[in-house]
Amino acid sequence: MNNSFWEDKKQEVAFFEDGSFNAAYNAIDKHEHTNNRNKNALIYEYEDGTAVQYTFLDLIKLSNKFANILVNSGVVAGDRVFLFLPRIPELYAGFLGILKTGAIAGSLFSAFAENALKDRLENSQAKVLFTTLALSKRLAPVRSSLPNLTTVFIVDSDEFKSLLTNASESFSTVHTSPEDYAFMLYTSGTTGKPKGIVHAHMAALQQHESAKLVLDLKDNDVYWCTADPGWVTGIVYSILSNWSLGVTTFVHGGRFDPEAWYSLIQKHKITVWYSAPTAIRMLMSKGDELVKKYDLSSLRYLASVGEPLNPEAVAWSRKVFGKPFHDTWWQTESGSILIANTPDLEIRDGSMGKPLPWITADVVDDNGKPVGENQEGNLVIKPPWPSMMRTVWQNEEKYHSYFANDWYISGDRAKKDNDGYFWFVGRADDVIKTSGERVGPFEVESALISHPGVVEAGVIGKKDELRGEIIKAFVVLKTGVSPTEELKEELKQHVKKHLAGHAYPREIEFIDKLPKTRSGKIMRRILKAKEEGQPIGDTSTLEEY
Ligand code: WTA
Repeated sequence: MNNSFWEDKKQEVAFFEDGSFNAAYNAIDKHEHTNNRNKNALIYEYEDGTAVQYTFLDLIKLSNKFANILVNSGVVAGDRVFLFLPRIPELYAGFLGILKTGAIAGSLFSAFAENALKDRLENSQAKVLFTTLALSKRLAPVRSSLPNLTTVFIVDSDEFKSLLTNASESFSTVHTSPEDYAFMLYTSGTTGKPKGIVHAHMAALQQHESAKLVLDLKDNDVYWCTADPGWVTGIVYSILSNWSLGVTTFVHGGRFDPEAWYSLIQKHKITVWYSAPTAIRMLMSKGDELVKKYDLSSLRYLASVGEPLNPEAVAWSRKVFGKPFHDTWWQTESGSILIANTPDLEIRDGSMGKPLPWITADVVDDNGKPVGENQEGNLVIKPPWPSMMRTVWQNEEKYHSYFANDWYISGDRAKKDNDGYFWFVGRADDVIKTSGERVGPFEVESALISHPGVVEAGVIGKKDELRGEIIKAFVVLKTGVSPTEELKEELKQHVKKHLAGHAYPREIEFIDKLPKTRSGKIMRRILKAKEEGQPIGDTSTLEEY
């Protein structure tokens, strides 16, 4: 990172006069006395087709109400306040309201179930949670084991609605220091429970710059980022950066559906569309004729993130939309896009593009030495950069494990070609990306083992044409338990109910024994190699199998 570069860029975001910086102030409050005041910040469409609009001023007032409710309930700077909400306007206003108080916002994807909630709320020692009546049912079984969680607001209850009506719409946003923590997101690695990746307010600087450069956002755009704020893309590119740039943002409350999506683009005249490979492949599978039924001529710029974007999908989008999807690469930990196909870069279909001008990236071996052109190695980034995670919540050891030989190690394997384009190869660890959603195998294994019929389980990501990967579980049953199709279904439901609706194994195979190291660790790599018909590789640490 070049320091004077970022010093200059600081003029583009809004500091308080005393040098403090709050990412929510920067995203919306700063527009209060500008021409953006009455411009639409959020165009929101419910699943039933009703659309509502919030100007920047509306959003300022609504988030102020959330901030006042929090302060009145005793929240102070540094407290953790979580959102467990579907994509409704309250999620967006609530997130900003939390930041305004100086508290640290956390979001929980709405498909999570009791155990996923418990792990995250327990580890973060969250004090307040916003949820809905329907979702609160999943919290109920674990609520009593969360002593720090003193307040749960049910946003669709009459009680909360009247709180909101009565709350003041003015609030003086807390002057946080640029390095104060703004939000945290739990994310999965190979082992153990999910880790809280913590971001500072100052990350907004790089988030703003990257949205401007990579997503090509301009004043008169109507921008649609399809990601959910339960994941990092939904926070960074549908709240913090887009609004920092004063861009009208569209959010769809409903589920993915090809016809609905095309008609939303047509109806709201979407100009910039940031989506994900699984959605693009699903659209592709519905065929070209469907696209032709809609007037999608408003589309000006398309981008994609979250999993490898296959060359066929880029070629298809050129054919049917007249423009390619621009692939972008980043991670929860990186806080903003680091490698991308920027508008000016000639796209090589299937490549993630090149590092942004402010990023040094390379492909190295395990000793940190560059592997050379077109060779596979670890994708690494030169630290620090302004939006880099600041810590892993109460886990310094984990935080430090990301860094070695003066590099930040992404955990991805990649290649760099002769012209400096980066090509994704795969993960270096066992992290699963299913439909672009990051899932840790350990959490799924734990959920399976909690079923009375299961002795142990090994979980992998299995290649899938549509979803990138699907979750596959190898399950060892207790003696006497019958390996039936009904039991497979029961196990799927069990994981959905206890862990998360999106993180259940779509495929289950019963086996007698799992491959393990001599110290008893499950070797998922071997399960994966066998599944994909690949050579099993070095098994010297393997116990007899
Ligand atoms: C994967 C999402 C291939 C990668 C913003 C990374 C990608 C992980 C791409 C982070 C891409 C993200 N091509 N793989 N363009 N973008 N990934 O934390 O494995 O949910 O490490 O952040 O997604 O996932 P996360």
